[in-house]
Amino acid sequence: MNTVSDYLKNGVIDIAPLLSLVLGKSNTELYAQNDYALDNNQQQQLSNFIQQREQGVPFAYLSGKKGFYHLDFKVTKDTLIPRPETELLIDIILDLLNKNQKYQVLDLGTGSGVIAVTLADINPRWKVSATDFSQAALNVAKINATTNINFTQGSWFDAVTDQTFDLIVSNPPYIEEDDVYLKDLTYEPRTALVSGEDGLDDIRIIINNAPKYLNKGGYLLLEHGYNQQQQITKLLNKAFHNIKTFKDYNGNDRAVLAQIK
Ligand SMILES: C[S@@+](CC[C@H](N)C(=O)[O-])C[C@H]1O[C@@H](n2cnc3c(N)ncnc32)[C@H](O)[C@@H]1O
Repeated sequence: MNTVSDYLKNGVIDIAPLLSLVLGKSNTELYAQNDYALDNNQQQQLSNFIQQREQGVPFAYLSGKKGFYHLDFKVTKDTLIPRPETELLIDIILDLLNKNQKYQVLDLGTGSGVIAVTLADINPRWKVSATDFSQAALNVAKINATTNINFTQGSWFDAVTDQTFDLIVSNPPYIEEDDVYLKDLTYEPRTALVSGEDGLDDIRIIINNAPKYLNKGGYLLLEHGYNQQQQITKLLNKAFHNIKTFKDYNGNDRAVLAQIK
């Protein structure tokens, strides 16, 4: 077995994208040139990728990239693989803020940089800052940046000095520490996923500290787990008002936006 057609017939998980990756061909080219015979190096590389994929390594870690909104992002084992659900945060922000006005925006826990980089790329007038406590993740985010972003390292607001912002956005870790779903996510950094017994440890820190870092009338936007919206709304009630909740494109509760009182 060594032609593209032979491999495509064998039913291995993600075989077409894996072939595209090894051969540097688009999906259309693969099918149009399906009698192409792979040389020894290509066969070896492909079987290595197939083996890793079968062991559960996500495709994005093999290709080293993942599409998000209108850009492609480098991802490594030090970064979460960006999820389509997180694109909802971008849509909410673009509906909320005026593209032509100047805003100070902070992305907490930026990972590969998807939120900060996408916003800064669409809105060159906005001043975007991004933090993470993982220096390795920040190094990847810096490579992904298409415009000037102020990257700083530290735990949540420790990474921010005396600045204040019109919008603070975060997709923090929010999975409960004994969630059964974690067994399917063993290749991504646990510190990007898990947040204490109820999954809310980091969200509590962000909600409690955000008021000090928000300008008058400023907003906090958080992504969260499908079953956390009620508890988060309660946590927000003291210092925030105009609380709006959002569902993701699968119909699950996924984000909360709130304005400082
Ligand atoms: C769910 S990931 C989100 C990454 C990226 N924003 C995205 O949406 O794909 C959470 C991120 O928060 C970072 N993080 C976890 N604990 C943190 C902390 N105490 N302070 C700052 N960042 C933290 C992780 O390193 C990770 O990059």
